[in-house]
Amino acid sequence: MRKELVKYLVITGAFSLLGLLALQVYWVHNTYLLRQQSFSDRVYSAMSKTTSELERVDKPLTKLHAPNITDTTYKEVPLDTFFNAVNQDIAEWVEVQIVPSLEERLDTSLLKGLIQGFMEKEGIRAPFSTQVRDRSNRVFWKYTPENLKDPEVEVFTSLLFPNDPLSQDYYLEVRFEDTRKYLLGSMSSMLIISVLLLSSIVGLFTYSALTIYRQRKLSELKSDFINNMTHELKTPIATISLACEVLGDEEVKKSEISRDRYIKMIREENNRLGMLVENVLRTSLFEQGQMRMKVQDVNVHDVIQSVLKSFDLQFRNRRASVIEDYQSVSPIIQGDPMHITNMIFNLIDNALKYSLENPKIDIKTTDEGGSFVFTITDQGIGISKENQKKIFEKLYRVPTGNVHNVKGFGLGLSYVMGVITKHRGTIQVNSEIKKGTQFIVKLPRKYEEIN
Ligand SMILES: Nc1ncnc2c1ncn2[C@@H]1O[C@H](COP(=O)(O)OP(=O)(O)OP(=O)(O)O)[C@@H](O)[C@H]1O
Ligand SMILES: [Mg+2]
Repeated sequence: MRKELVKYLVITGAFSLLGLLALQVYWVHNTYLLRQQSFSDRVYSAMSKTTSELERVDKPLTKLHAPNITDTTYKEVPLDTFFNAVNQDIAEWVEVQIVPSLEERLDTSLLKGLIQGFMEKEGIRAPFSTQVRDRSNRVFWKYTPENLKDPEVEVFTSLLFPNDPLSQDYYLEVRFEDTRKYLLGSMSSMLIISVLLLSSIVGLFTYSALTIYRQRKLSELKSDFINNMTHELKTPIATISLACEVLGDEEVKKSEISRDRYIKMIREENNRLGMLVENVLRTSLFEQGQMRMKVQDVNVHDVIQSVLKSFDLQFRNRRASVIEDYQSVSPIIQGDPMHITNMIFNLIDNALKYSLENPKIDIKTTDEGGSFVFTITDQGIGISKENQKKIFEKLYRVPTGNVHNVKGFGLGLSYVMGVITKHRGTIQVNSEIKKGTQFIVKLPRKYEEIN
């Protein structure tokens, strides 16, 4: 997939997700507002049903007395003042005389029963306190259930006897704690499902984006590998074909020394080709999990010495010095001799390849509990902390920006890791740029199959 396309896909996906998130938040908020509205509607409806019911059972007004009119003097007043005075008198007359006192009129236990019943019928389960007060906040009666801590947050008020001909302004009040808690609680299942769905979508998206990213990286690595491989193959093939051509020459045929030289050249290049193919094959077998282990007792000291011997020529060419320090007293472990040999070969090969002039390599063996420990230290170019995590990945090579020209495919250490894992061992790397690198390999002496 093209790099740009992937970028746009990921950006579009991220924006769509953000949009979805915003929409969800908007919906949840809207639902909350609707529920809040419906909550107060239901509370008011319960209150109005309560006051209607109270009015229905209200005692009939029986006490009708006229006020004592004592002032009988006559004054001349404007007409509207006169009517006002008449109205006021009538109001006073009715107010004082018709309406009995609230204590007489109101059955508080009935009020309590009614409001609780209607609230329950309206589906209001949040606890609330009830009180009756007048216009100047004088409280006549109040009921607060025990579990209600702070019933002052949300107050709903309605007129107690709304249909009195002349209102006395008594109010019925219902008070709740913070209803947000109650409303959110009633939305909890919806909220949980939303959060779960959203987080699973976000998780899937991130996973897919990461997979695409990794796949792209892998395909880049693979194409690098193919380029590298073709380059590596071309050199021996060119050398062999040149040598063959030269061998056909009559002059060369006659001289035994030249002939032997070219034959040796062909053999060496052929070996190199074989090694290359072997390397790739081994890694691909490892990948498919088809690596067979032929477990037997292996003396690792012997293995190290035989590998060092095979490097003899290279050591001499590079003027390398190797210090061997065999401290282990029981260097025999159970394992596959071929894979252990290749593993050590790869580590020594790297120590040599990634050192500049006159490589100095230290090899040390020790015992640690039930394990055999092999340490190889070089004074080469070193590996940065960031790259130390990646060098065991297949095909990974530390980018050098053409500073030095060391050939390789980035397969060696992934194979080393594979062999060590198969033996249930561990490998640790300590390295500092320009100072050198140390690999510590621990292998248990007893082999246990990995299922
Ligand atoms: N001893 C070392 N010193 C410095 N860098 C190292 C050392 N060993 C490995 N590396 C870095 O780790 C990378 C991976 O090593 P690995 O052995 O897997 O691959 P390679 O040596 O590049 O190729 P191959 O081993 O397949 O021929 C190397 O490319 C190199 O950059
Ligand atoms: Mg290597």
